[in-house]
Amino acid sequence: HGVFTYDPGFMATGSCESAITYIDGDAGVLLHRGYPIAQLAEHSDYLETCYLLLYGELPNAEQKAEFIKTVKNHTMVSESMQKFLEGFRNDAHPMAIMVGLVSALSAFYQDHMDINDPEHREIAAFRLISKMPTLASMCYKYSKGQPTMYPRNDLSYAENFLYMMFATPCEEYKVNPVFANAMDKIFVLHADHEQNASTSTVRLAGSSGANPFACISAGITTLWGPAHGGANEAVLTMLEEIGDVSRIDEFIEKAKDKNDPFRLMGFGHRVYKNFDPRAKVMRETCDQVLAELGQANDPLLKIAKRLEQIALEDPYFVERKLYPNVDFYSGIIMKAIGIPTSMFTVIFAMSRTIGWISHWNEMISSPYKIGRPRQLYVGETERDFPTEK
Ligand code: CMC
Repeated sequence: HGVFTYDPGFMATGSCESAITYIDGDAGVLLHRGYPIAQLAEHSDYLETCYLLLYGELPNAEQKAEFIKTVKNHTMVSESMQKFLEGFRNDAHPMAIMVGLVSALSAFYQDHMDINDPEHREIAAFRLISKMPTLASMCYKYSKGQPTMYPRNDLSYAENFLYMMFATPCEEYKVNPVFANAMDKIFVLHADHEQNASTSTVRLAGSSGANPFACISAGITTLWGPAHGGANEAVLTMLEEIGDVSRIDEFIEKAKDKNDPFRLMGFGHRVYKNFDPRAKVMRETCDQVLAELGQANDPLLKIAKRLEQIALEDPYFVERKLYPNVDFYSGIIMKAIGIPTSMFTVIFAMSRTIGWISHWNEMISSPYKIGRPRQLYVGETERDFPTEK
């Protein structure tokens, strides 16, 4: 029907109208419902940001308290999920397990699943926000061979996550408030980023009327790739490869060499050409965490700080505006807190779940069409099936 545009990678295709997030990469602007990300990181917290993304306005004190209470009502998962988890190999990548667990929520929670009912959609959103930290920490505990820790509703969202990750039933565990604050900032800064690959996937999956948990699982799958959510993991892999401060110059030269495909991971950004407003907040948080730990001695963190310094001074990086990005700092923070590299993308998925479900809800709330891109066919023209040998 009519003419269509060939646009691989959707570089010039707007797929929807949205009132959730605004990005101006050249100007370094990222707004959620109109509020600058740096202001949200400074004055708000993750659950308040969730409310804002989902409902469009900041909550008043009463609404905020009610929202937090409802999130806490949903933190546990069905006990059978534990058995389901135990079906996986314990060396499986936690993203592979998360794809399975989140998708399985659609089988465990079959009530309130009329997607055309706004209340049902709201319950699905609450279930996801609440259960993601529980599922993520279950994956981690399983990989360690440690017992799953039940959520503690007396703790904040970030504190509860760190508790479920690092506490054991054997001894009392006190959550470090500097770490909890850093974790909350990571959650806020990753909450949404407009029509990226995973969010577009969630919308596309949702456009067929599919179950919301299954749609979010599709988003997790898309986020898994190194070109999307895997960059903070790549930062740590690179730091390990460099291995020692004495080898930094060698890697800097490799990064500058146009005949060498090596790039400094965690530097530069496709959209933010001047600066990434999230990276500034992450840098401050990173410094707070390192100061708290007095971790000048960790060799990887030493390499990271030195790389940061070089990139901010070396003309190659300065001229090309290759600033350390949000993944550079978030990777270092999580490493310093003691979170294993394989969990980095899981934490990104946890944080982004609110963005995904807000976009899904926005789409279902207004008239929408099933997403159905066209193609440019480059195969054989019609030919007859050979009937004779
Ligand atoms: N190390 C060394 N040189 C680089 C780097 C780097 N990390 N990034 C870009 N350059 C150079 C590149 O070689 C080119 O130089 P020249 O103009 O001399 O040919 C110039 O800078 C411009 O690069 P580009 O490839 O045109 O920039 P891009 O917009 O296509 O790439 C990027 C952006 C993020 C893919 C790239 O900077 C990169 O590969 N960075 C490392 C990976 C990384 O940290 N990715 C995470 C990004 S944030 C993800 C998110 O927000 O979720």
